[in-house]
Amino acid sequence: MKNEIKQVMITEEEIQSTAKALAERIDADYAGEELLLVGLLKGSLPFMADLLKNIKSKCKIDFMCVSSYHGGTVSSGRVNILKDLSQPIDDMNVIIVEDIIDSGNTLHFITKYFAAKNAKSVRICTLLNKPSRREVEIDVDYIGFEIPDEFVVGYGLDYDEYYRNLPYIGVLKPEVYAG
Ligand code: IMP
Ligand code: MG
Repeated sequence: MKNEIKQVMITEEEIQSTAKALAERIDADYAGEELLLVGLLKGSLPFMADLLKNIKSKCKIDFMCVSSYHGGTVSSGRVNILKDLSQPIDDMNVIIVEDIIDSGNTLHFITKYFAAKNAKSVRICTLLNKPSRREVEIDVDYIGFEIPDEFVVGYGLDYDEYYRNLPYIGVLKPEVYAG
């Protein structure tokens, strides 16, 4: 698996310290308030866990699973809910936890979906941001790393469902998805 990676873009240590720093910012911003972290499956799983372990505020967690990719490396723009929230979110401070924002289509859909509910507040926390590829404007409150326009895998992010178990963020060799 390792020889399919062209380059390590973000190390495990860098991710850990960034997750800790984001958790501290979140704790400071919500001082004394309760939180609901909503992880978007499957990619946010490791980031969600690291963020969660470092958050000291009283909090609950939930997960949603949406799909917009169909095995390729480019977003299709269509979003389907595969798994919905398992609880009402009325009057809760929701933080949506995502692995990466690329075109923005997924979070555009999710943001509209949450706006129709009665949450007290809704913010977005993403490990990675690829702003150069944005198709729709998204308000992101917490960003781990801004990255260039390269297809990355690892630490939850996949290509064709593989590579999620790499402990770092790496750039996949183009020949892996070219053929
Ligand atoms: P968006 O809807 O285009 O913003 O894409 C968001 C979703 O696309 C993320 O949750 C990822 O699952 C996937 N994605 C976008 N860029 C990458 C990448 O570089 N590597 C792996 N998955 C990606
Ligand atoms: Mg994904």
